[in-house]
Amino acid sequence: MTENTTPLLRAADLTVAVDGTSLVDGVRFDVAAGEIMALVGESGCGKSMTALALMRLLPNGVSIVDGEVFLAGRNLTQLSEAEMEAVRGNDISMIFQEPVAALNPLMTVGDQVVESLHAHQGLARREAMEHVLDMFQLVGIADPRDRMRQYPFELSGGMCQRVMIASALICGPSVLIADEPTTALDVTIQAQILKLIKEMCADRQTGVVLITHDIGVVADTADRVAVMYAGRIVETGSVFEIFAAPRHPYTQLLLKSVPRLDDKKKQRLHVIDGVVPDPQHWPTGCRFHARCPFVSEQCRRDRPPLDEVAADHMVACWHQAELAEAG
Ligand SMILES: Nc1ncnc2c1ncn2[C@@H]1O[C@H](COP(=O)(O)OP(=O)(O)O)[C@@H](O)[C@H]1O
Ligand SMILES: [Mg+2]
Repeated sequence: MTENTTPLLRAADLTVAVDGTSLVDGVRFDVAAGEIMALVGESGCGKSMTALALMRLLPNGVSIVDGEVFLAGRNLTQLSEAEMEAVRGNDISMIFQEPVAALNPLMTVGDQVVESLHAHQGLARREAMEHVLDMFQLVGIADPRDRMRQYPFELSGGMCQRVMIASALICGPSVLIADEPTTALDVTIQAQILKLIKEMCADRQTGVVLITHDIGVVADTADRVAVMYAGRIVETGSVFEIFAAPRHPYTQLLLKSVPRLDDKKKQRLHVIDGVVPDPQHWPTGCRFHARCPFVSEQCRRDRPPLDEVAADHMVACWHQAELAEAG
């Protein structure tokens, strides 16, 4: 983490809890302008909760109990809800994992995107509508004029996802949080959306947090990677470092679980033995210890700190030095 420059987005020891149980525990990362940071990890590791915390859109009962989120140096955790509302959509926007739930069921999809453009940028309706048509086309919505007049329930899940992506991109936010943005889409559209995100990131210097379980997407799209396990960041680094010299056993196993290129069926990351523990039963010490091939007494007992092992490469593992030598 560079201290002398203000990062575009910073999660600083972010901790999210429900009824005294933490779901996200001391998460920290920086995202620079024009950078795509992939947040990876198996299902249930707290990726979506982290994303929702950045947006301050956590579900009822779930809250940020510690740490801060900074957007260009501005502490978002201290803003009033009204101030935060002005930040959302304009400065930071999100593509949600559940597209249907994110859309208003009572409004045509055209109206909701036009409305967001109108509200945030003060564009006249007619002008806003032209922008929406263009954006719908960009995200691969055929017959955009007809689609605009439809309600979410009239559209397929994939189509709703494209509408939501259009809605998230249309105001040109400085930060985009994309939570598994292409999971429900076929590969062609998926590639198209990722290309769009990459272009937007490069052209407008958008900072992107791309949540994905697809390691192939990470290699193709991201500049940096943060690996999350059981509510904590266990490794961060440049995409090159992470792929060339992964240090955390969890990262190493994740990389080994990449589906083979000739495997047509999209696979989820579940080839590592065992499962992610439940937040109520998070183990002591290193939370990965029960599944780790290198586990020792210290791992069961003490939490490993997230240490810098190379420039811009941080790892939380008691055995990372030995593993690096062995690797
Ligand atoms: N509304 C909620 N209340 C309590 N726990 C929740 C809620 N939503 C999710 N969780 C739990 O929080 C943990 C992290 O979930 P999530 O952030 O969705 O993981 P990921 O996105 O990495 O799959 C999981 O154990 C999940 O069961
Ligand atoms: Mg999720």
